[in-house]
Amino acid sequence: MRALFLAAVFFMAQIQMSAKNGISIIPEPVSVEILQGFFPLNGETGLVLFDTAACRNAADFLKGYLSRYYGMDLKEKAKKRGGCIGLEIKEVAEAKKGAYELSVSPGGIRVTGYNREGLFYGVQTLLQLLPVIPGGKAGEGSRLLEIPCALVKDEPRFEYRGMHLDVVRHIFPVEYIKKYIDYMAMHKMNYFHWHLTDDQGWRMESRSHPELNAKGAYRDGTIIGRFPGTGLDSTVYGGYYTIEQMKEVVAYAAARYITVVPEIDMPGHCMAVLAAYPQFGTEPEKPVKPAVTWGIFNRENNVLAPGAEVFQFLEDVFNELMDIFPGRYIHMGADECAHKWWKESPAVQAFILSNGLKDEKGLQRYFAQRVSDVITARGREAIGWDEMVDNGLVDGTVVMSWRNANGAYKAAARGHKAILTPLANSYFNVQQREKEDSLFHNMKVVSLDKVYKFEPVPDSLSALQAARIIGGQGCMWTEYFPTVEKLEYAVFPRMSAIAEVYWSDKRVKNWPGFLLKLPVQFDRYDLWGAGYSSYVFDYECFPRK
Ligand code: ACM
Repeated sequence: MRALFLAAVFFMAQIQMSAKNGISIIPEPVSVEILQGFFPLNGETGLVLFDTAACRNAADFLKGYLSRYYGMDLKEKAKKRGGCIGLEIKEVAEAKKGAYELSVSPGGIRVTGYNREGLFYGVQTLLQLLPVIPGGKAGEGSRLLEIPCALVKDEPRFEYRGMHLDVVRHIFPVEYIKKYIDYMAMHKMNYFHWHLTDDQGWRMESRSHPELNAKGAYRDGTIIGRFPGTGLDSTVYGGYYTIEQMKEVVAYAAARYITVVPEIDMPGHCMAVLAAYPQFGTEPEKPVKPAVTWGIFNRENNVLAPGAEVFQFLEDVFNELMDIFPGRYIHMGADECAHKWWKESPAVQAFILSNGLKDEKGLQRYFAQRVSDVITARGREAIGWDEMVDNGLVDGTVVMSWRNANGAYKAAARGHKAILTPLANSYFNVQQREKEDSLFHNMKVVSLDKVYKFEPVPDSLSALQAARIIGGQGCMWTEYFPTVEKLEYAVFPRMSAIAEVYWSDKRVKNWPGFLLKLPVQFDRYDLWGAGYSSYVFDYECFPRK
């Protein structure tokens, strides 16, 4: 059965992809030529860096991977002719960031990056040529690793290739955040969207507003089961990342050419803020606690009220955020803000009137403008969720489109950059099949093929509009994901699928070919110790082993 299926799939894939000969490179490179023979990698193989400083990140990752998974200690050596792995950077000004060439021959391996990112990604591809035996074991004996000879030429399709992680609904330790970043790096992703604040907790240390940590970072419990829940687990839950920890994550990510995009969500999703500073809300006399349940939206009052003190607060915390996170993009949320609390507040209505705003949408745009001004004052760019399109776009903001893809296309038509993460194709917290065997968001099914087959740029866009779609990401909201095991079951293999959506050229991306690569990729997950769902092989009638 498996042989028959494989034959059919090979035929469909026209053997275009790297899936030939058991080779599985994800995301699929622009071109892969498999050649005769092997390069024998062993403990004697030298690693030669043609520019020690520029090649350092790539070299360290390569050595770390070989040591961790293969027990092999690769030694850096002075230049020599053959029998070694050479890493080099040949700056090509017009090359895309991330472009590289990898050549494996029996006499040596050369990874050539056309920039530093390219070298790093060339190393990732090289690591994917290493043998992984079923069950996720390293190559037999690890003394001699046969690397198939090949010539790979590659560059990314999109400049923004990301993964998101919500650490509010459930928090994950710094050590795990680093692991998640490694997974991203191994998929040639370059933006980590870190969702740090929400109704259920405030997860970044704030020195300007310490009550955010004292009162806003801990909730009194967590609902049991799917919303609205079958009861309450009243264990206090929470925590936050210190400034030092966040800086550590920034540096760790930077060494992997990953930029952290931190998010403070406002003006909705702010119950944790109101728990610390009730005076920032529309009902200051009502005590608020960080939410113990999910999907707050318009059921509980979680919005900021406009006013000098609140705008000063936002200026302070966004500046603190930018002190920690040096990246170009800063996320200001702007999603799911229920206007009813503003409608019901005479003070807010007076603010709308006195500031010449049309209505609550105008007020939401005003919040975005105020925060965007703080962000652009430091030379950064503000990202907001696609509700911004409904409320009136603020000049220069980047739209992250989650409800569907249309927000991105509308934004692009209006001259804005856009990032895609449409729920139906990119939310990994949503079940991957009907009747998941554990608790997931179940509003839709985000199956692996739905993730994989999403085309980010429809033909209806003009060339100019298409160029404004800078890429996309997978999102991982963690209401139902309290543990790493459950999180990874949701993330893999969908993260591998979305990596191809935003890296691989349209001409080489193909679903049957991707399926052919998955068994090796699953062995790789095993090697990494990562959890995953193998459900795809049930619905594709493809027994894994
Ligand atoms: C979102 O899922 N509310 C961005």
